[in-house]
Amino acid sequence: MRIVVTGAAGQLGRSLRAPLAAHEVTLVPRADLDVTDLAAVRAALASLRPDVVINAAAYNRVDDAEADATDAYRGNALAPRNLALATAERGVPVVHVSTDYVFDGSGTRPYHEYDAPNPQSAYGRSKLAGELAVREINARHYVVRTAWVYHEQGANFPRTMLSLASRPEVRVVDDQRGCPTYAPHLAQAIARLIETGAFGTYHLAGAGSVTWYGLTRTLFALRGIATPVVPVTTDEFPRPAPRPRYSVLTSIQEPRIVLPAWEQGLEEFCRALP
Ligand SMILES: NC(=O)c1ccc[n+]([C@@H]2O[C@H](COP(=O)([O-])OP(=O)(O)OC[C@H]3O[C@@H](n4cnc5c(N)ncnc54)[C@H](OP(=O)(O)O)[C@@H]3O)[C@@H](O)[C@H]2O)c1
Repeated sequence: MRIVVTGAAGQLGRSLRAPLAAHEVTLVPRADLDVTDLAAVRAALASLRPDVVINAAAYNRVDDAEADATDAYRGNALAPRNLALATAERGVPVVHVSTDYVFDGSGTRPYHEYDAPNPQSAYGRSKLAGELAVREINARHYVVRTAWVYHEQGANFPRTMLSLASRPEVRVVDDQRGCPTYAPHLAQAIARLIETGAFGTYHLAGAGSVTWYGLTRTLFALRGIATPVVPVTTDEFPRPAPRPRYSVLTSIQEPRIVLPAWEQGLEEFCRALP
């Protein structure tokens, strides 16, 4: 297949090259294609003539989105709409990646694909708007919800924690639970998904769940870091955007695609660090 990946310089985008190695892949970073520009998206697809487009581009500045959501809607709703339009016009599938933040986090069991979204943040609302646009415009879609994505290159929570490890102690929130997802594992799952032709919505996140505190403890243990990790509550770390307290994702969708356990992702991440 000819595959085009947009937003290709990000954590997911860069991870897609290896699992798609059997295909003819064009990784298109933002510098070469701004997906908020419909004419540019149409022109790129006319030139590259993909069999499938994977959108790894997103506006991910969760807190900034609260003050001015317009940019978040441009990146997370308008952009996937543009890609859905351009792919639908060409009769090819589109993969769009969304987030656990579409849920309100009040759940007590893992969220599956048929649970009702109820985003609490501007970022979450913009991502849900993108999902809806993709579903409305291109029936040949895979909407993939994931969570807590990290990679050895990129701005993410595990790397931030490692950068803080020289402090006397590290205080980490212990009342938000989710599914840390190693970007290469997500990329492998997407590579399998696009072979299925089973269009629809999928939850693809690291298996199991943990709090940010638990994640940090495991990370420090893997790296042999002795810095004490102190559990704290969300109230001690006020942020502009509310975070779901419980955003564990599971999948009941067919075909079942299950990612490796989050602990395995963290081990692979640690091995890949310079
Ligand atoms: N990171 C997480 O924890 C997380 C959690 C849940 C869901 N997700 C979703 O997973 C997907 C992949 O996330 P990620 O962690 O790989 O994100 P990332 O590392 O922030 O990468 C996103 C990429 O998109 C690019 N981009 C932004 N606006 C663009 C535009 N208008 N046109 C073209 N490219 C644009 C960015 O370029 P610049 O850097 O130049 O802006 C960046 O290279 C996204 O849909 C994200 O919302 C992520």
